[in-house]
Amino acid sequence: MNADRPGNASENPRRKARGKKTGPASRNIKPGSRPALKMLTTTLWEYPSQHYDASDGSTMQGDKNYTGATPSWVIWQLLQRYTREKDLIVDPMCGSGTTMDVARDLKRRALGYDLSPTRTDIFRADARKLPLEDAKADFVFIDPPYSTHVDYSDDPRCIGKLDAASDDGGQDYYNAMKTVIDEIHRVLKDRRYMALYVSDSWKKRKGTQQGTPGTFMPIGFELFNLLQQRFIAVDIICVVRHNTKLKRGNWHKAAEQGNFFMRGFNYLFIMKKVMDRPTR
Ligand SMILES: C[S@@+](CC[C@H](N)C(=O)[O-])C[C@H]1O[C@@H](n2cnc3c(N)ncnc32)[C@H](O)[C@@H]1O
Repeated sequence: MNADRPGNASENPRRKARGKKTGPASRNIKPGSRPALKMLTTTLWEYPSQHYDASDGSTMQGDKNYTGATPSWVIWQLLQRYTREKDLIVDPMCGSGTTMDVARDLKRRALGYDLSPTRTDIFRADARKLPLEDAKADFVFIDPPYSTHVDYSDDPRCIGKLDAASDDGGQDYYNAMKTVIDEIHRVLKDRRYMALYVSDSWKKRKGTQQGTPGTFMPIGFELFNLLQQRFIAVDIICVVRHNTKLKRGNWHKAAEQGNFFMRGFNYLFIMKKVMDRPTR
């Protein structure tokens, strides 16, 4: 759905060759700048800032100081494509409220839940059991914990306390996420869309053999498999990360010397609920 789709998004390759680089993948993006948002048309998404300048003049969606906040422009792209004005947008793990702010900026309605609400318009709830009737949401966005990389709260139900690198292959983490995905399926209307934003993870292990300095957790692939049990895959987007660690020379040196990679991208899985599809 393209409620606010800009005019002609097609590109003339010859015009591009003459050097007008405005696309997201062009390498002349100034870090921290905030070019006007326009709909991205490839599966590689990049924007130089975490936030965008909203229509009401505000310059931040959610809270830039919230560890693990989602880049608001990612949610903007999704809502532009898959929702219309007045649609109900639900975020079951709302954190600092980024999804709600973007939804309201685009004149959508928003419902946000979290185990540890950071503001009064977010309801306290476990994403595995949302206080919402079946088939109410027009779109669901979720950015869950990526294993134990951030300490979100003291609530023992926080999925960020479950280690995806545990000896049993992260069973508790994946079982919890499976229940969250089932719950998203329940609250979403038929033939509507959801998106899950996530990164793989890598954890340094003490005392391991040289050459195996840590454990890689393919969280993206594992969650995509779980999503496919309930939804139809619409697309997979690669979102370039611009976090502060990636700017630090000492981290790059450690990655080189320790023979590991820092996460350079997040997955964005876009899925559709289709009730009468054949089961996998
Ligand atoms: C990556 S953060 C979300 C960031 C958010 N999109 C934002 O932009 O601020 C993950 C969130 O999941 C929440 N969370 C973890 N386990 C949860 C659960 N079982 N139910 C609801 N929220 C949960 C955490 O409290 C945290 O706020």
